[in-house]
Amino acid sequence: MEVIAKYYVETDLSIEKAAEAIAAEQSTGTWTEVEREKLTSDLAARVVRAEGNFAYIAFPEELFEPGNIPQYLSVVAGNLFGLGDLKKVRLLDVIFPQTLVLAHKGPRFGIKEARKILGVFDRPLVGTIIKPKVGLSPEETAVVAGQAVRGGLDLIKDDETLTDQSFCPIDERVVAVMAELSKVEDETGKKAFYAVNVTCGAEEILDRAEDVIGCGANMVMVDVLTAGFSALEVLSRGVKVPIHVHRTMHGAFTRDRHHGISMVPISRLVRMAGGTNLHTGSYLGKMAGDMEENDQCRDALRDDWYGLRPVFPVASGGVHPGNVRPNLEGYGNDCIVQAGGGVHGHPWGTTGGARAMVQAVEAWKAGSSAEEYAKSHKELDAALKFWSS
Ligand code: 3PG
Ligand code: MG
Repeated sequence: MEVIAKYYVETDLSIEKAAEAIAAEQSTGTWTEVEREKLTSDLAARVVRAEGNFAYIAFPEELFEPGNIPQYLSVVAGNLFGLGDLKKVRLLDVIFPQTLVLAHKGPRFGIKEARKILGVFDRPLVGTIIKPKVGLSPEETAVVAGQAVRGGLDLIKDDETLTDQSFCPIDERVVAVMAELSKVEDETGKKAFYAVNVTCGAEEILDRAEDVIGCGANMVMVDVLTAGFSALEVLSRGVKVPIHVHRTMHGAFTRDRHHGISMVPISRLVRMAGGTNLHTGSYLGKMAGDMEENDQCRDALRDDWYGLRPVFPVASGGVHPGNVRPNLEGYGNDCIVQAGGGVHGHPWGTTGGARAMVQAVEAWKAGSSAEEYAKSHKELDAALKFWSS
């Protein structure tokens, strides 16, 4: 079996030559012939197709160490980005064979398991990122979280830069937020996840996650690109709560549509490594990406894949009640739609903003336009007026 990687390439060489250069550099070759190369020819990658700006390279499975995601990346997304003969090169997708996929356990909590914890089965989940993203104390964070859940949200999350700083120690924050969420649940029956950002160094991450779970956390979060895929995999094997996966830093290699790495292979690796939710880009928002790439990420996370549990795509970044619809049209029912500013910036505050987001999702579910639904839902009406100006 082979691993097939698809690349977009811009080069002054012929596309065939460029594809051969990638295949050589990423398997048994280098810039010049080496005598012993013949002995290792079984491990040589081969060009399957090279046409226009696209190159498909097949890597023998034996080049990969099963279970070692960092090593997979060094093969399919390694030195090639620096090859002087390639002006631009983007890794678009990777097709992994069953043996490599199943060298990973995938999510312990997938879409179905996360929905069961919340008791929400028939609509997209609605979440918020606590804002301001840093600077609130544990008690202030808890107040905002409680206000959001009172407005009907299913998920509250830390932002990517909040971990365990002195202004908001993680244990105190978790205790305060979970106490508030349990109070709201007693009063209203509404359950919600709190995704606690446990991103830190390899030596500490599992202990930190266990520690916050000991303080009551029902979900942990990791910044997968800064912490690494192994950090996510260690968490998913080690802890018994769902995992929210943030992709901060992705823009460094996803933004240029002709260079870098697309979110599609990242989505596949996150699913292998065991994330429950992954930020994949919004169809409309402050960091809106390529629609086709969003579709491909959605499918990579949710399609049947050798039995690995499906993962929620998350639309996040500049989302507000007025642009919920295109995100849901893209991601469908099994997704999470999230807003930070689009909840807390509502003219009536966090609870009003949370209600407006939930109403925008209800409108989509009911097949009604947000404007129509807003005629009988005042929070949504206020949000649409506020963000249209
Ligand atoms: C995120 O981490 O996804 C962003 O903080 C979203 O924040 P925003 O909804 O205010 O853009
Ligand atoms: Mg953020």
